[in-house]
Amino acid sequence: MAKTISLTINGKRITTVPGTTILMAARQVGIRIPTLCYHPRLSATGSCRVCMVEVRGRPTLMPSCTTTVEDGMEVVTANDRVLEARRLIVQLLLASGNHNCLTCQSNGACELQKLAYDLGIEALAFPARSSGYPRDDSNAMIERDPDKCILCSRCVRACQEVQVNEVLDFGYRGRRSKIVTAWDLPYAESDCVFCGECVSVCPTGALTEKQAKFQGRPWELKKVRTTCPYCGTGCQLDLNVRDGRVVKVTSDTLHGPPNYGSLCVKGRFGYDFIHHPDRLTAPLVRHKEGFRKASWDEALDLVASRFSQIKQSYGADALAGLSSARCTNEENYLFQKLMRTAIGTNNIDHCARL
Ligand code: FES
Repeated sequence: MAKTISLTINGKRITTVPGTTILMAARQVGIRIPTLCYHPRLSATGSCRVCMVEVRGRPTLMPSCTTTVEDGMEVVTANDRVLEARRLIVQLLLASGNHNCLTCQSNGACELQKLAYDLGIEALAFPARSSGYPRDDSNAMIERDPDKCILCSRCVRACQEVQVNEVLDFGYRGRRSKIVTAWDLPYAESDCVFCGECVSVCPTGALTEKQAKFQGRPWELKKVRTTCPYCGTGCQLDLNVRDGRVVKVTSDTLHGPPNYGSLCVKGRFGYDFIHHPDRLTAPLVRHKEGFRKASWDEALDLVASRFSQIKQSYGADALAGLSSARCTNEENYLFQKLMRTAIGTNNIDHCARL
């Protein structure tokens, strides 16, 4: 039988398996410990110290996200000592930079803001000092604001461990510390492929979607789950809609296949075509001077009659069908069925094979 470990958290007896962290053990029984640098998809670094708890017999507070449980352990997650330490940490983070919540894109979704609220922090205990680093909006997709960065390294780990692009890391030292690309180049000039994984894990407004800026507060957005149409992988994404317009794309399927919360550059940022004025919204039929708008009935009747003419004149093998990776398996199945049975040819292929 597998060995188990027994401990108490806030007086509650818990039995779990060796290797479990205090944070995980607490979550298993519904005890909430706040976190900042911890993210369920990333390795734990224990760097922010917000998740500190008191463990009986240990002289210092312990980070619950990196401390594993031991038999007989007695843990307290929120006494005066713990809360005082947490408040001090959050106060120092609030003072390190310029966390201007008023117009921050992450207002309402910022984990630091929520922590300050939960801990009852009404005013800064220390004067805020700007990082002195300028904003990086060198590209069309991601805006980086070092003044809102708390150096939690979630973006670094997401880039290294999830996307394995290894574009980001820590640069400089002490107060000058900063998350940088190689040679501290702007994103646009770096090796970044703009998957936006860094944006999706950022707990503050340091990394935000540029196209979504001033397009809607988090609480104004309705999320609509859909399947990405760009390729055949079928990533699950959430269209963030405000007043009938898609203003942002996210993916909240952290534990669900096939993408587990990740998206590529097209899925996350390639949605501007949806409301683009040049987007085709009706079939066009070619005539002498160019194209004219037609109804779907007219367009489909025309295609069917021309296909019939070609088939009668030259035989079914004069026609061929090329299907799309954007279609579902079922649609692709129906398409090959249409070509083989209705048209009568085996000339059928699929763009994903090219
Ligand atoms: Fe545990 Fe940051 S969440 S140290």
